[in-house]
Amino acid sequence: MALYLVTGGAGFIGSHLTEALVKRGDRVRVLDDFSSGNMANLASLETGEHGSGAPVEILRGDIVDPDLCREAAQGVAGVLHEAAQVSVPRSVEDPVRSYAVNVTGTLNLLEGARAAGANRFLMAASSAAYGDSEELPKHEGMVPSPLSPYASGKVAGEHLLRVYASCYGMKTVALRYFNVFGPRQADDSPYTGVIAIFVRMLLDGRTPTIFGDGEQTRDFTFVDNVVEANLRALDVQDVEPGCVINVGGGERISLNDLYRAIAKELGGEPTPGYGPDRAGDVRHSLAAVEKAGRVLGYSPLVTWREGLVKTLAWY
Ligand code: UD1
Repeated sequence: MALYLVTGGAGFIGSHLTEALVKRGDRVRVLDDFSSGNMANLASLETGEHGSGAPVEILRGDIVDPDLCREAAQGVAGVLHEAAQVSVPRSVEDPVRSYAVNVTGTLNLLEGARAAGANRFLMAASSAAYGDSEELPKHEGMVPSPLSPYASGKVAGEHLLRVYASCYGMKTVALRYFNVFGPRQADDSPYTGVIAIFVRMLLDGRTPTIFGDGEQTRDFTFVDNVVEANLRALDVQDVEPGCVINVGGGERISLNDLYRAIAKELGGEPTPGYGPDRAGDVRHSLAAVEKAGRVLGYSPLVTWREGLVKTLAWY
């Protein structure tokens, strides 16, 4: 049994990780500013304030605060860093805040982990790192080509992990997530993931907008796959310094097909609206998952279609 710090642990992905860690017998300290996280996401778990000794301790605050990050990392065996400003368009609107959270926040946590002697550091990196390279699927050997402040901040975070591995011997793994979706993804913000937006709007009888022609593609990855990859990355013995690994479903779907699938599952085929292309958007995305298989023994457990059905069942 170990204590892990999960940043963003009250959020969508973080709460699933927290739940999985507790299920396997570990304890978790959650650091969250509750800007998009929610205590309801942790409702199935026994929680208490920081210092209470509960299986899941809650520490409230912003990772931009270095002292808080230092406090959060004390006594932990490892960090699963999920807290982030996750939206591409929001980063285009406010690159300074995006960098503060995603880059300075990551640095603060690495420093906290270093001071605490925590040797394992996993980070939610992003497939956005690949940008618009022609080559598909996107593999870890490709040179990053970020198209947005969000993407470049995530790549900067990866570089910080690499440096903490090479300078301080920390075992770091940057997991490049590909369009994660599933139960508990916030659906009350225009800055959330597209599946959550489409589902909420269709349930409310509103008409979703597809940005561009809808022929852009994404590798939509059900959250259980992400949990699986993280648990494996936490325990794997041999990690190269600065290890970067894709976590995807290995299948790509166009936005038009995605929209049709959701509308059909919900029992109708209402026509979407179409709007202009979105600044900073990547055109196509598909994960090569061979490295995840080789290093972590990972293969996707749930397809995007199965995941969609599970997600809709949650509503
Ligand atoms: C998403 C994640 C990002 C993550 C990346 C790779 C969110 C908010 N973003 O970015 O954190 O790093 O995957 O894993 O979770 N779209 C519409 N209509 C809408 C909203 C979106 O057509 O109302 C389109 C977008 O233009 C885009 C696609 O859907 O082409 C996906 O958009 P989005 O869900 O925001 O994800 P990414 O930008 O790919």
